[in-house]
Amino acid sequence: STTRYYEFIVSETPGSPDGFERPMLVVNNQFPGPLIEVNSGDELVVNVINQLSNGTTIHWHGQLQNGTNYMDGTSGITQCPIPPGANFTYRFTINPNQYGTFWYHAHASTQYTDGIYGPLVIHSPSEPIYGQYDRDALVILSDWYHDMSSGLLAQYLGPAGIDGSNYGGYNPGAEPPPDSGLINGQMTGSSFDLEPNLRYRLRLINMGTLTQFMFSVDSHVLSVVEADGTSLEPVNVHRVPIHVAQRYSVILTTNQTAGSYNVRSEMQSTCYKLANPNLNTMVLSTMTYGASPSTPNTQDWSDALPALCLDLNNTMIVPQIAMNPPNSSETVQVSMSFQQTPQSGGTEILAFMNNTSWESDTTNPTILQMSKAGIQTAFDSNQLVVVNNNVTVVDLIVDNYDDASHPFHLHGHVFWMLGEGDGIYQPGLSQISTINPPRRDTLTIPGFGWVLIRFITDNPGLWAFHCHIGWHMAAGLLMQFASLPSEIQQFQIPSYLTEQCAQQSGGLIVN
Ligand code: C2O
Repeated sequence: STTRYYEFIVSETPGSPDGFERPMLVVNNQFPGPLIEVNSGDELVVNVINQLSNGTTIHWHGQLQNGTNYMDGTSGITQCPIPPGANFTYRFTINPNQYGTFWYHAHASTQYTDGIYGPLVIHSPSEPIYGQYDRDALVILSDWYHDMSSGLLAQYLGPAGIDGSNYGGYNPGAEPPPDSGLINGQMTGSSFDLEPNLRYRLRLINMGTLTQFMFSVDSHVLSVVEADGTSLEPVNVHRVPIHVAQRYSVILTTNQTAGSYNVRSEMQSTCYKLANPNLNTMVLSTMTYGASPSTPNTQDWSDALPALCLDLNNTMIVPQIAMNPPNSSETVQVSMSFQQTPQSGGTEILAFMNNTSWESDTTNPTILQMSKAGIQTAFDSNQLVVVNNNVTVVDLIVDNYDDASHPFHLHGHVFWMLGEGDGIYQPGLSQISTINPPRRDTLTIPGFGWVLIRFITDNPGLWAFHCHIGWHMAAGLLMQFASLPSEIQQFQIPSYLTEQCAQQSGGLIVN
């Protein structure tokens, strides 16, 4: 294994990915940010230089961070934001058993919505698909907004008038509708220049903030071989539904007639409050091989769409390396909901896990509270579940009291997805499966439904579990798990992390 060094300069710059110019937040003046490529077991070192006027952090989505929880980059949980003008060096080892498609993004309020995100690919000869394809291509999907996310967030949260009426023309609790969708950072004009008769691994990553996408390529069957870093038994589909923060690899073979084909990525905005099908924009790009590029004259698949606002059916996600989960020894059942909450001058929409809405403490992140005050502290047990001091197998049940589906991500673990259904989970009645269930790090919880996931608390640290829709996480739809708490207290937390927290007490506001 090798040490891979990167330097990330995070700055604000004008940009116009869909033709409309606005201020963007970017890494190394690139959008999406630079590709990080490593091998399993490598050490990754990224020096982040913050040239923004706000604090920032970078999270390495899906990285297990074994023993380095304080490198997880989660503002208010594992670190304080890196102050403007300062730098912070992330240094951690890629788990030797991990490979596949990942990404990184700012993890401070809704900052990544403004452009701070990019792909992270882990190569390994142990990956079952290794050597089974000829070329690699990134397909980054994202929704896009014409305004800075901080302003949109303020509109989303409210306040509404006392009677809940509109405030300033905005409808609190209605997610800001995206202005466009992008493929590899462009709305139109992005194109894939391929060679005929080769197998391409398309790495689909949804780096957006709100919408699920339905992805397809005209006339080409897609063979799904990876979900969130887990290799799958190949399964052929015409379209892949991919929610925020999820990844799929699909193999596409360039074996059709030479020419140009439409690549389609349709935003599924109907999954949210602004159920306006006109917002279901089809983002197009072009794939060409064996001919010179031309405007594609190809047809969309005409079969029925897979279920909207849900993941690919569980029966289609069969891990290629089979693994049945051990029996669980602890059950945590939580509810999630949105509520109008009284605030001065009206009400605000906040999101709740059980009865608590998360608020990021940017001057005193949980990891420091925990290493100073210990585990038996006054943490709100809705917000922080301290699992016991031994390695434990946890069943986590989430009951979704909201009508919309939500993409939830668990940091630092790969979980088994044992079941989902309508209504509230009923022990003994609700159907679950423990035979080689899907393993992933981000799943879609159905509207007015439940999911049950199982994970092993073998990784010491404070791990966020949250909705990846930017607006919802900022409204408080996040809780934390403390795994192996006695080991958290023994962490050698880098001193600059504590120093940067001290600088924050000056009242720095993030985003
Ligand atoms: Cu992709 Cu908590 O993050």
